[in-house]
Amino acid sequence: MSAAIIPVTPQTLVQAAAILRGGGLVAMPTETVYGLACDAANPDAVARLYEAKGRPSFNPLIAHISGPEMAAREGVLDARAQACAEAFWPGPLTLVVPAREGGATCELARAGLASIALRMPGHGAPRHIISALGRPIVAPSANRSGRISPVTARDVAEELGEGVDLILDGGRCELGLESTIVSFLTDPPQLLRPGGLARAEIEAVLGMGLAAAASAGDAPTAPGQLSRHYAPDAHIRLNATAPQPGEIFVGFGEVTGDYTLSATGSLREAAANLYPLLRKLDRHHDRIAICPLPAEGLGEAINDRLRRAAYRG
Ligand code: TXA
Ligand code: MG
Repeated sequence: MSAAIIPVTPQTLVQAAAILRGGGLVAMPTETVYGLACDAANPDAVARLYEAKGRPSFNPLIAHISGPEMAAREGVLDARAQACAEAFWPGPLTLVVPAREGGATCELARAGLASIALRMPGHGAPRHIISALGRPIVAPSANRSGRISPVTARDVAEELGEGVDLILDGGRCELGLESTIVSFLTDPPQLLRPGGLARAEIEAVLGMGLAAAASAGDAPTAPGQLSRHYAPDAHIRLNATAPQPGEIFVGFGEVTGDYTLSATGSLREAAANLYPLLRKLDRHHDRIAICPLPAEGLGEAINDRLRRAAYRG
């Protein structure tokens, strides 16, 4: 039995907060992808959440906060982290900082790490739920571990129907790619996951380049760093200039295919189309060929997701 899908309204946001307070799981829209939320302070709920996703419990979750004061109760933001929070929150940027002693987020949600990932979502629905709960919620993408992230309520039902108490429907996610994750545990700060906020914008605020994350292979601190992730069942061939027999071909810009990520060559549009298109093609095709995409701007995150979706070990 799949969980009920109900639209986001002031009433259902209050209902969602009540479910979370009672230890339940709620799938909700954000501006990046749909998240599967639970009370960050409740280890039983966090354990249930890991189970619903089929996620290895050594992988830490992002604590979603409703504002800077709540962030400061959970983590220690240095001047650089603070500058990024001021420039980009609310929005698709997650900051990894030292966890603050006495914060509400339980150790299981942090996978026992001394650090914490903090994000203030740009979407109003999660911020209202967090405010109503009065403490952070943790919310990984609402997909089974390793699979394509959901960008509609229906995607969520397809991924996780059972084991979720409520699915809030806020329409299709605006960005369609997960938040960018930057760690402030190192000097210079490290880009752990490219995402919905382009690297160059962060580097402009910091006045310095971000270090590359060490390639984590199959023993990651971040599941998004797993070589194979965001993955459909279909075989994916990247940087294809033309389809081979039996392949469905995805183009971009001037490269026309059977489908396109963006006919106008917009990376923003390609980011928003990426997961829905992979999900759709995966239903009907075994082999997907994708043309090369630019590496700059949002292209860094799109290419990162494509590499992981294509990886076969
Ligand atoms: O856009 C997003 O960030 C979405 C929406 C729902 O907010 N959430 C999301 O969560 O993508 P998830 O769990 O799928 O990815 C969180 C990433 C993982 O790769 C995790 O390992 C990393 O954040 N992470 C969490 N805490 C960390 C920490 N202390 N150090 C390093 N990485 C951390
Ligand atoms: Mg995820």
